[in-house]
Amino acid sequence: MGIRSYPSVVDGSACTYIKNVNSIESRSACVLTFGCQQNEADSERIRGILSELGFEIADDYTTSDLVIFNTCAIRAHAEDKVFSLLGNLKAQKRANDKLIVGVMGCMAAEACTVERLKTKFHYVDFTLEPNSIDMLPKLIFEAMSEGRRRFALGIDRGDITEDVPVIRSDNYRAWVSVMYGCNNFCTYCIVPYVRGRERSRASADVLRECRELVASGVKEITLLGQNVNSYRSDLTFAELISEIAEIPGDFVIRFMTSHPKDVSDELVSAMAKYSGKIAPYFHLPLQSGSDKILRAMNRTYDREKFLSTVERLRRAVPDIVLSTDVIVGFPGESEEDFLDTLDILRRVRFDAIYGFMYSEREGTRAATFDGSVDKRVRSERLTRLFETQEPISLAMSERFIGRDLNVLVYSISDDGIASATAVCGRLVRFNADGIREGDSVTVHITGASSYELTGEIRK
Ligand code: 5AD
Ligand code: SF4
Repeated sequence: MGIRSYPSVVDGSACTYIKNVNSIESRSACVLTFGCQQNEADSERIRGILSELGFEIADDYTTSDLVIFNTCAIRAHAEDKVFSLLGNLKAQKRANDKLIVGVMGCMAAEACTVERLKTKFHYVDFTLEPNSIDMLPKLIFEAMSEGRRRFALGIDRGDITEDVPVIRSDNYRAWVSVMYGCNNFCTYCIVPYVRGRERSRASADVLRECRELVASGVKEITLLGQNVNSYRSDLTFAELISEIAEIPGDFVIRFMTSHPKDVSDELVSAMAKYSGKIAPYFHLPLQSGSDKILRAMNRTYDREKFLSTVERLRRAVPDIVLSTDVIVGFPGESEEDFLDTLDILRRVRFDAIYGFMYSEREGTRAATFDGSVDKRVRSERLTRLFETQEPISLAMSERFIGRDLNVLVYSISDDGIASATAVCGRLVRFNADGIREGDSVTVHITGASSYELTGEIRK
């Protein structure tokens, strides 16, 4: 793996050509993001590149001259959404012969999807894999100057590109990617195939970015990675997060997504030691509560190990907020296996869960497994999953009633209601009463639903 700098690898003559065209014609560009926070972070860099090329960054794709879909491949539903939106661009292309359409993100790294885009979607000009973002100017140049279609697949060298320009969409909350890719090959998951093997940024680069963000007034830094806690450079993840926590300033650190197998004692101790800086929140994807299914998923932990990890976190960080991901209807999941999942939800008492019906992904091992669970059963189990969790989420929310929470305000609606995140990650709403976006205030919690808290500003 190599670390490269964007200015040194980007195609300079392609950039000059595009800038010249844009200085005469003033074209606009819109980036649509699907899927996870990693894609949100990538889109901020795609917009950074486009802006540097002289495009006006727009929110409305229907009137833009360049439209980029930054896509997600995790479930069939995510892909269907992209295909159906792409359909709208056919007429737009007919009306605007300058229009360029690009597909980036995880779908652009799937051979079967790229083939479909190439043969069935003639108005798609290019696709580009997520780890090859520095090639974007070249592909735009080829589409602009020669009308050439390009489907760049299999070119990911496993490098990391630093110094990519960025337009951040929030002044107070920032994403910082620290590692990319995944080595775990959970049998249901497409990510290792589309995002490649794990690679970590140098700690010096991460620390420099974090220092700059804090200096610019950012109050919340979220460290990102498909397996963020498998970060490994000259430092471990626990060491990295401790060094970030040592940066002077008034800010909070979050991180996602973690793998339960990599919740080291050092990480748990760092969270306890820096409890003022590292948010008391942990997203710990369970996926299933059945040992048989966990084995079939290749998750490398069992119920007991998962429960002991929860125990370690709760002992070190009292009142920690926990959330999780659960898949229902994995091949071979019996009613008994599913009941094991419900059982573990009752034991752990997560604050929040994200539940998904299993979605078969071509190319993954699970796609070849027997024991497909009927779609109706999958849907019925998902309903039961949420019904089981609902009263638990409500009770977990209600534990905050009567307490004071420090929150960061991220938006204020026209009718004067502030939306904010508490340090623990909880959503809090209250009467804005003279405060502004980006303010940190203390809120006395007076009400709770399963997914949000309400309260009043403490004067
Ligand atoms: N089907 C359903 N859910 C999936 N996830 C990952 N792959 C699949 C799939 N094939 C879920 C997992 C993961 C979350 C991001 O998406 O729960 O943690
Ligand atoms: Fe997918 Fe498993 Fe890797 Fe997470 S750890 S990205 S679920 S393969």
